[in-house]
Amino acid sequence: MTKSVVNGGSTSHSELKSVVVQDQTFALNGKDVSYRFHIDEATGDIVSDHFGGTVTESYGKPLNLGGGGWSTHEHIRREFPNQGCGDFRSPAVRIKQAGGFTVSDFKYVSHEVVNGKPGLPGLPATFGGDEEVTTLVVRLHDSVSSIQVDLSYSIFPAHNAIARSSTVKNMSDKEVTVDKLASFSTDLPYDEYEMLQLQGEWVRECTRIRRKVDYGTQGFGSANGYSSHFNNPFLSLVKPTTSETQGDTWGFSLIYTGSFAAEVERTPQGLTRVLVGMNENQLSWPLKPGESLTSPECVSIFTPNGIGDMSRKFHRLYRQNLITSRFVNEPRPALLNSWEGLFFDFDESTIYKLAQDAAKLGVKLFVLDDGWFGVKYPRIDDHAGLGDWEVNPARFPQGLKSIADKIRQLEITEFSKAQSLPSIMQFGIWVEPEMINRNSTLHDEHPDWVLSAGQYPRTETRNQLVLNLALPDVQEFIIESMTKLLRSAPITYVKWDNNRGMHESPCPSNFHAYILGLYRVLKELTTRFPDVLWEGCASGGGRFDPGMLHYFPQSWTSDNTDALDRIQIQFGTSVVYPASSMGAHVGAVPYELTGRSTPVRFRAHVAMMGGSFGLELDPAHIPDEDRTQLPELIALAEKVNPIIVRGDMWRLRLPGDSNFPAALFVSEDGSEAVLFLFQIRTVPVHNFPILRLEGLDSTATYRVDGHGPYSGATLMNGGIQYKFQGDYDSKVMLIERL
Ligand code: GLA
Repeated sequence: MTKSVVNGGSTSHSELKSVVVQDQTFALNGKDVSYRFHIDEATGDIVSDHFGGTVTESYGKPLNLGGGGWSTHEHIRREFPNQGCGDFRSPAVRIKQAGGFTVSDFKYVSHEVVNGKPGLPGLPATFGGDEEVTTLVVRLHDSVSSIQVDLSYSIFPAHNAIARSSTVKNMSDKEVTVDKLASFSTDLPYDEYEMLQLQGEWVRECTRIRRKVDYGTQGFGSANGYSSHFNNPFLSLVKPTTSETQGDTWGFSLIYTGSFAAEVERTPQGLTRVLVGMNENQLSWPLKPGESLTSPECVSIFTPNGIGDMSRKFHRLYRQNLITSRFVNEPRPALLNSWEGLFFDFDESTIYKLAQDAAKLGVKLFVLDDGWFGVKYPRIDDHAGLGDWEVNPARFPQGLKSIADKIRQLEITEFSKAQSLPSIMQFGIWVEPEMINRNSTLHDEHPDWVLSAGQYPRTETRNQLVLNLALPDVQEFIIESMTKLLRSAPITYVKWDNNRGMHESPCPSNFHAYILGLYRVLKELTTRFPDVLWEGCASGGGRFDPGMLHYFPQSWTSDNTDALDRIQIQFGTSVVYPASSMGAHVGAVPYELTGRSTPVRFRAHVAMMGGSFGLELDPAHIPDEDRTQLPELIALAEKVNPIIVRGDMWRLRLPGDSNFPAALFVSEDGSEAVLFLFQIRTVPVHNFPILRLEGLDSTATYRVDGHGPYSGATLMNGGIQYKFQGDYDSKVMLIERL
């Protein structure tokens, strides 16, 4: 790497270049963010100077606090902390050398600034043209171990976003093992912070948890091999006074689908360290001489304007610079998925009847969920068939193409032609390609493909085992069996499920090797089939992460279709992920798991806040009065869908805080908006709140649901009051700028 100084110092705020390098001081500047660090002359270490609102120069040298006898490093804010130099905090990197040492001493060697953003080998990552993103790579070297590290920082100025990853290269002549490698590591100055995370479980994904960052280490992560339902790979730090609409907010989102760790450590001296990356307990990555390991990328966004603004910045960045699918900004067809309507209990005639009923309601995509495959070991329940991706001839005697063709010929009854989508029924299918049942021909032929650890028991969950995607043969099998399936019938949508965690693994590094194998498979299949709308799923939102979104533009948000729970889950998911990426369906009531019944209008209004709206019921088995409302509700979902998919979301009132949750979606050009209002329960003889809108132009005039005109100022400062009636009442208002 050549040592270069690019974009030399400019100091006027408006003229700040995105990367400024001067005298071994580095500045990354976005619209409202500056990220600065410098090289310590004496040690060659990288010292963090600032991560927050815009600054135009470094503010002198850090105060020298002396440190006393024990804390030699604890007052230093470090960018890439190692182990063994007297920094007693958690390190960003730990490498075991041939001699057993885990000490390292990385010093600055050189840097390079490149326009645009190079890809990461084998990993999903943000991307962008030269005008959108600039990358600074800082090279470090440990002369004792001969190990080199490249820290890569890519700044997307329009989004206030910095994507960081690190690459370790073994330049020695002996094998070493990387035991820990953070994607993002930085030390924030002494201050009071709170941390926000998205925690949950199956059917309870993405609950917002906010707590004080206290002295000591607090963190979370996942260990089940995937990003998981338990903790989303996302962390935010905020000031205690930060709210949805104002205050300093730092977000860290890891583009990774495997086990991860987020550590926040406040030391007795007061600094706060943030480390985000792969779970170190499942790494131990061997590096032969000349080999390298690149960490996944972590995107950090700073905004002074609160949690809502951080979310909108993530949404835009992820829609524009992460998701590769051509469907990312496309309106999605209203679908009907067979799962909750029929579960495993169907054959060709019941499926066709379900599709006919769907067509009569205005549905445009019929999805055949679990239970359609398996010849020798038919999948008629969850004990058999995974791995055998051939249609079950007992259920579909004429084959998959025949039923798909029949469904595609169904005439769709449209309540109103709300979208420009063609009125041809599409056909989609469910698969779970990373899994295998013992009862399958695949298992008969390849028991060795099961993820396992020698003679240790192969524990089953939902009667299934995991295939070891670290093996190239398994990757090939999945690529070829899915290719064959997709070429066998006119399939335009695939729901790719994954219903258990990894238990036994042959060695720690296999966890990451599996994820690299998975990414290879996803890249190959999405490249081969760019016109398929792919949806991720892992028993709901168990893999709702930016790594999967790079390949699949949407994910099934939760197996929970209880609309009240769903408001919470979807609002939580929207802290990082755009509405366009959420699958949200109307289920039947009472909902099995909660026993709760909500009106069909309420269920549909909640579901249409997701980019991929659908039904998850058998229309023949719901009350007539619900069924008769569905065509109009589907038409409304289709009408608002382009704004949901491409617009900005404003969480006006949060479900956890208010009996009246509300959200506003504003189209990118601001000309249209759609407002969702909900009342959870009636409070008798009580007034209704006034809802002040956000995100409009105060000087423009708008019509609200045909009423008005009102100025943006009136709507944002005066607000709207709606008279709800009864429990689970809801209202959708269409807003247009005049
Ligand atoms: C998982 C998914 C469901 C459904 C079933 C089928 O639970 O999350 O939506 O597809 O698998 O077995």
